[in-house]
This record gives sequence, C-alpha cells and structure tokens, in this order.
Amino acid sequence: MSVAYGFSEYGGPETQQFFDCPAPAPGPGQLLVAVRAAGVNPADWKVREGTRRDTVPVILPAVLGREVAGVVAEVGLRVTKFAVGDPVFGATASGYGGYTDHTLVNTASAARKPPTVSFADAATLPVAAGTAYDAMNMLGLAPGARLLVVGAGGGVGVAALQLAAAREITVLGVASASKREVVESLGATWVASGIGLADRVSGQVDAVFDLVGGDALTEAAQTVANPAAIISIGDPLAARDLGGSGVERKRTSAVFAELAELVAAGTLDPRVAHRFSFERAGDALAVVESGHAGGKVVIEFG
Ligand SMILES: NC(=O)c1ccc[n+]([C@@H]2O[C@H](COP(=O)([O-])OP(=O)(O)OC[C@H]3O[C@@H](n4cnc5c(N)ncnc54)[C@H](OP(=O)(O)O)[C@@H]3O)[C@@H](O)[C@H]2O)c1
Repeated sequence: MSVAYGFSEYGGPETQQFFDCPAPAPGPGQLLVAVRAAGVNPADWKVREGTRRDTVPVILPAVLGREVAGVVAEVGLRVTKFAVGDPVFGATASGYGGYTDHTLVNTASAARKPPTVSFADAATLPVAAGTAYDAMNMLGLAPGARLLVVGAGGGVGVAALQLAAAREITVLGVASASKREVVESLGATWVASGIGLADRVSGQVDAVFDLVGGDALTEAAQTVANPAAIISIGDPLAARDLGGSGVERKRTSAVFAELAELVAAGTLDPRVAHRFSFERAGDALAVVESGHAGGKVVIEFG
C-alpha cells in the first residue's frame, strides 16, 4: 500500500486528507517512482477546487501534485532507458499525483537526476522551470532585448529571470517589495507591483511574460509595442484578447534533462524557499495557496 495526500471531493482545503491506496503498477513506458520530493504548485489547489476538471480529470479520492523526484522502483514493459535504482524526476502520469510515497511517471516526461542536483531541486523543475523554459523559447528574444516578467518572485518567476539572464536578455521583474531582494539577486531590475505599474516601467519593453493576470496584465500590456509578444500563464484568455497567447507546454525528457543540466552547471537555482515533511503536506500547499510564495515549495519524504 501507498500513503497519499489528496482530496476526497472538489472544494477547499477542508477536503484534503491522507489516505491509503494500492501502490500503482507501471504500464508500458512507465516508471514506478519511490518519491523523495514532490513540488507544490498553484495548479494543485486549482485542480482540487475543480476549476480544471475539463483539462485535468481525476478519480476521487485524488492525489495532489504533478511533479516528483525519486528513485525508480519498478519499470513497465518497453522501458529501456531507465532501470530500477535510477534517480529520476518528472511530471506524474495522467491520473496520478505527486504527494505520495510511490507514483507513476511516463518515460517521455522523465529525466535522470544528475548526482549534484538534489531531489528537492529536481522535483521543482517540470512545472515552474519547465513553464518558464517553454515561454522563453516561444518568445525567442535576442540578447539585449527587454523583457517584463510580472510576478517575478514566485516559482515560475525566479526560473524565468535566470533563464532570461542566461540568454543575456535584460529583465524587469515586477514583484512586491518583499521580493525585491530576490529579484535583484537574479540580475533583474525590480519594479514594484500594484496600480500604476505601466508608469513605473521606463520606456517600452520587447516582451511581457505575465504570471498574474488581472490588472497587472492589463497594465503590463501597455508597456509593449508588439502585442504578439505578450505571454500570460496568469490569464491566457485575457492575453489572447490582447493579441498575445498562453504558454504551449512541452513536458519532454529532453527539456527536463536540459533544465537539470542548467541546475548542475549553476546557471539555474530553483530557489527552494520552503521545505515540508510529508506529514505537513497540507501546510505546504497552504503556503502556495496564499498566492504570495517566494521561490519554490517542496514536500520531502523520509
Ligand atoms: N500554464 C501553465 O503551464 C502554468 C505552469 C505554472 C504556473 N502556472 C500559473 O502561473 C501562476 C504563477 O505560478 P507560480 O508557480 O509562479 O506561483 P507562486 O510561486 O505562487 O508565485 C506567485 C507570485 O505572484 C506574485 N504576485 C501576486 N500578485 C501579484 C501582482 N499583482 N503583481 C506582481 N506579482 C504578484 C506573488 O508575489 P507577491 O506576494 O510579492 O505579490 C508570488 O510571488 C499561477 O497562476 C499558476 O497556476 C501556469
């Protein structure tokens, strides 16, 4: 049996609970992973609330979480690139969560964890850093271009700032004063969040990566000459109305492996700011659900 933390019905945090479930059996092309760390993301509580039931269908009770790092405990048929005992990380297979001691990962969305990268860091890469990576590729900005990142101090934001810096892109990071230090430590120019954002951005930017939506996106859009260069994961529909787009996600082994190499090389630090034991999984999600997490939140096992 596995122990999992999830939700028994769609709703608020009161639906969250620990429960026992049979350890899943890996199908063809799948890995059973003994989880050492699970990343915590806003998507987790959004799935719990049921607002994503069209795109992320679950069977109740459902296990929370979408990304893990751990050790391969079993391989399914036709798995040739991974073996039992390999340290790996990746996105959990459809219908399986991350806040549990054992879960399934498709080999197509798994990568080997380099020895110098911690399980905690690796567990954060598929969702936040992966999204930032996909956005940077979509924007395709040249060195010296100016990029405005709105929501720069959160999980996706800190990854975006570092990936942009590695491409020699000049970044303006919009965040509250509490996150000024982290934004500046990542080489970006800090811009205070809140009403009047557009006035605080000097000159025009070449692109906007918005992680917040609402008024922040509306104001950020005023700072860019080319609306097609607006990408939002805070409100992709609003971005489309403005002439921009959401992020097209690529959850591939190749992308994850590249991100892990960037961490190993010291180019990318996911900035794990909060670590919780599995017993405190609910507290971990509450930090993210507050909407003001700085850096990444991780649940660690045993
Ligand atoms: N489509 C995808 O594939 C995808 C993938 C990952 C994430 N997302 C979405 O992207 C969003 C961000 O994710 P995340 O993991 O970075 O979240 P996070 O770690 O919780 O960070 C959210 C950040 O937003 C900041 N923020 C809140 N209101 C703001 C405002 N008005 N102006 C500027 N910053 C503001 C918060 O900082 P302060 O407290 O300092 O304001 C916080 O640092 C979430 O909605 C998430 O669901 C989508």
